[in-house]
Parts: sequence; C-alpha cells; structure tokens
Amino acid sequence: MVRILFIGDIVGTPGREIVRRTVLPLARRERLDLVIANAENSAGGSGLTPANYKELIAAGIDGITLGDHIYRRKEIARVLETESNIVKPANFPAEAPGSASMVLQAEEGTPVAAISLMGRVFMRPVDCPFAAIDRELAALPSEVKVVVVDFHAEATSDKQLMGRYLDGRVSAVLGTHTHVATADEQILPGGTAFQCDVGMTGPYHSILGRRIDRVLQSTRTFYPAPFDVATGDPRLSGSIVEIDPQTGRAVAISRIMINADDARQLAETPLSEE
Ligand SMILES: [Fe+2]
Ligand SMILES: [Fe+2]
Repeated sequence: MVRILFIGDIVGTPGREIVRRTVLPLARRERLDLVIANAENSAGGSGLTPANYKELIAAGIDGITLGDHIYRRKEIARVLETESNIVKPANFPAEAPGSASMVLQAEEGTPVAAISLMGRVFMRPVDCPFAAIDRELAALPSEVKVVVVDFHAEATSDKQLMGRYLDGRVSAVLGTHTHVATADEQILPGGTAFQCDVGMTGPYHSILGRRIDRVLQSTRTFYPAPFDVATGDPRLSGSIVEIDPQTGRAVAISRIMINADDARQLAETPLSEE
C-alpha cells in the first residue's frame, strides 16, 4: 500500500514552521511514502516565494500544489517553470507559468501523479475543470495508476461534483481553499478517496489564518486594514490516504490534525528507526 499525506493550505510563517517541525517525524510515525501540500498561502499569507519553496521541500514535502494565490509572489514563476515537483492549476491558461501535472516518486517506488484544479463557484472565472482533468488524465503515462487531485474550490457542492465525476478514475479528490477541514472523508463506491476540504496548516486563533482584529475591523467599517497573518495556536491539518499501487484505488482515508503539543511530542520522538 502507498500511504500519502496531503497537507491543506500552509499559511505564513506559523504554517511553514509547524511543517518544518512535524513532517519528517510524522512521516516516520505514520509510515508515509509521499507528502503533498497546498502551499498557496505560505508567503506572508499569500503566494509562495522561491525561498519558501526550498524550505518546504527541505522539510519533507515531495510535491506542491497552489491555487488562486499562485502568482501573488511573481518570482515563483521561475520555480514553476523549472522544477518538476510543483504545479499550477490544470484549468489555468496554457500560457500561465507552470506545469499542469506532475509525477512524483513515492518512497516504495510507486509513481504518483498529482494534479490541481480550480473550482468555478464564487471564484475567479477559469476554464472548465472537468474538461481539464479529462485532458490531463488522458496524457498520463499508462504505468501511472495512483493519481491525487487537489480540487481548490469554495463550494462543497462543487467539490462533491468533482469527486463523483472522478470516482473510479483517480485515487483521491481532496479539497483545499476554504481553510476549514470538513468531516466527510470517505471512499466513494468506485474507490476514490474524497474529502471536501483537508483544512488549514497555520494559526487557528485567526480568521482563516489572518488576525481576527484586523479582519473584524475592516469587515465592520469597510475601511481597509492590513490582513496580517495571525500567530496563535498553530496546527497542521491534512489527510492520509492509503492506496493500492496495483489498481490505484484508495482503501482508507483519515483526517489528521497536529497542534503545538503534538508537534512538541513528535519532535521529541527519537529519529532512529525502531
Ligand atoms: Fe485559495
Ligand atoms: Fe488558501
């Protein structure tokens, strides 16, 4: 079995810090073969810098997806154009910098494709995600059986539609973007692991990762205030999917949430293999 951890939207310094402290010990404890993360909010809450990219890869993340904030830090374009473990949403224009899919190598040798898509409900208009995923799946090498889709979307209905559309055709459809984990993780009848949103990796004493006072003030007064990244209660949120490498079908999915106390305990776990 291939065990993949998919980490939800990493927000700012608190998000990157808990990733740095926990991913490697977590990979050992949970016997993970691959770690994929949505990193669209890593740089000060919006975008991803080349330095953040390096930091996350060094922390044990094997592949990176993004979302609507992908180009907020323009300098990430050269990373998107040169590195093979980071993708743009597949339903972005062909001219947009970045690859539409990536094939990663899991620890035990299985090739794992990861593809990101953007939803179209309450979001900036983009190309049809259904047409885009059909195109990307058709283009994958036939030996790639394990496919993970990050559906970066706002509405749960939109996410359920994509889950059902891809059931039996991909290993997992996991949602990101809302920064709130949903309790609907399940294996669909065709063998696709599904969850509307895997949640946020960042400060939970916040509004979706930003300072409560600032968001509240500008929402009440309509007068803009800088939405600085919050600091309190950092947590890592994601889901672990277990997949049969022969068929690409998922057999299990479980949510995982690591808070500061868990992170401390994990950091104290001896590094040596038992
Ligand atoms: Fe987003
Ligand atoms: Fe986000």
